[in-house]
Amino acid sequence: MAKSVSGFSKLTKQEKVDWLTAHFTNVGIEAKEILQQYWNEDRILQSLHDDFVENTLTNFYLPYAIAPNFVINKKNYAIPMVIEESSVVAAASMVAKFWSSRGGIKTKILSTIKSGQIHLIYHGSSEGLQLYFDKMKPQLLRATENITENMRQRGGGILDLKLKNITHELDNYYQIHVEFDTKDSMGANFINTCLEAIANEFRRPDIEIVMSILSNYVPECVVRAEVSCPVEELYEENALHFAQKFVQAVKIAAVEPYRAVTHNKGIMNGVDAVVIATGNDFRAVEAGVHAFAARNGKYSSLSHAEIKDGKFRFWIDLPLSLGTVGGLTKLHPLAKLSLEILDNPNAEELMQIVAAAGLAQNFAALRALTTTGIQKGHMKLHLTNIIKLLNAKEDEKQFLIQYFENKTISHKAVVDKYYEMRREKE
Ligand code: MEV
Repeated sequence: MAKSVSGFSKLTKQEKVDWLTAHFTNVGIEAKEILQQYWNEDRILQSLHDDFVENTLTNFYLPYAIAPNFVINKKNYAIPMVIEESSVVAAASMVAKFWSSRGGIKTKILSTIKSGQIHLIYHGSSEGLQLYFDKMKPQLLRATENITENMRQRGGGILDLKLKNITHELDNYYQIHVEFDTKDSMGANFINTCLEAIANEFRRPDIEIVMSILSNYVPECVVRAEVSCPVEELYEENALHFAQKFVQAVKIAAVEPYRAVTHNKGIMNGVDAVVIATGNDFRAVEAGVHAFAARNGKYSSLSHAEIKDGKFRFWIDLPLSLGTVGGLTKLHPLAKLSLEILDNPNAEELMQIVAAAGLAQNFAALRALTTTGIQKGHMKLHLTNIIKLLNAKEDEKQFLIQYFENKTISHKAVVDKYYEMRREKE
């Protein structure tokens, strides 16, 4: 049967479902039911979601959870998190509470500049291109005035543009590097529209514009989040040992990329969950954050820790390009609600909340790793997920939870025990 199709986008949703299930699933009826089960009864809401992307067939649920008790710059927050991984929300909440009685999390914006580049090829002399650029610069800015008017009224806009000669890396390659302040919007559309207008104005028969696009690398749009307290306030017992081991773990992530990637992945558990809950672009954030982690030529930890003058200090610098207006932020009802729960932050405030969530997540992971080990808490929740997959009854569930209280949990061990228990029952 033919598996390619033309005009798919023009089919109705039902026709798309019919075509897909007929050609790509074994049990068409069951597949249809699964897809339709997730349609929202509210037609207007469903149609809103259908229109976010093309060829929508259904909705894909992820848990929407809340991590309460965050104190950030002395203000209380309950942070919405969208994430499928067990333990993350529990860990964030626990750490938030832990630090709330030790001065809370302190955050500050270090910078808010974003950039985009017009990548071009020019075969003539670099001096000649520079002269042309200098002459054109006011005209290039004028070409964007209509586009930037609203943004300028809000205090943002184009901050600077310069010509970069990169011919030492790639023959005849230059770029116009443009810096922006996009205020409360993430700014992707704004930046790209400005860049294309500048590129059109700059165009000449002997200049080949290869592409014009924003950069998701934002090393100058950075927020810092930190926690600190006298070492003895960390724990009643063994506080110094805990702090030393914790700092050692961070230092390992600073020098060892294999560890750094996992260390940073834990940070992104917190970051992405809030980024998604607020309707922001987590792929952009991920790409930018990891590039930042490798900015000194070696992939390294995003967080840092020290013990100085009897004080434990743990902090993170994160490049984050986020918006609280535009995109899905106000369009997706849950994203809008998340922002309301967060007291309608502006983009800078949202950066600080997200960084706090990332820091909390990293603290939770390192605390577990350097003390009890990660599996203890992690596997408890993993156990309940395995039990769910087994469709175990309530009494069976309770039996398994009790049985694995002091045992190593693995998928196989749980499944084996489950069937053993059932055999014994029969
Ligand atoms: C799991 O999602 C995240 C951790 O692996 C992070 C870490 O190792 O630091 C626990």
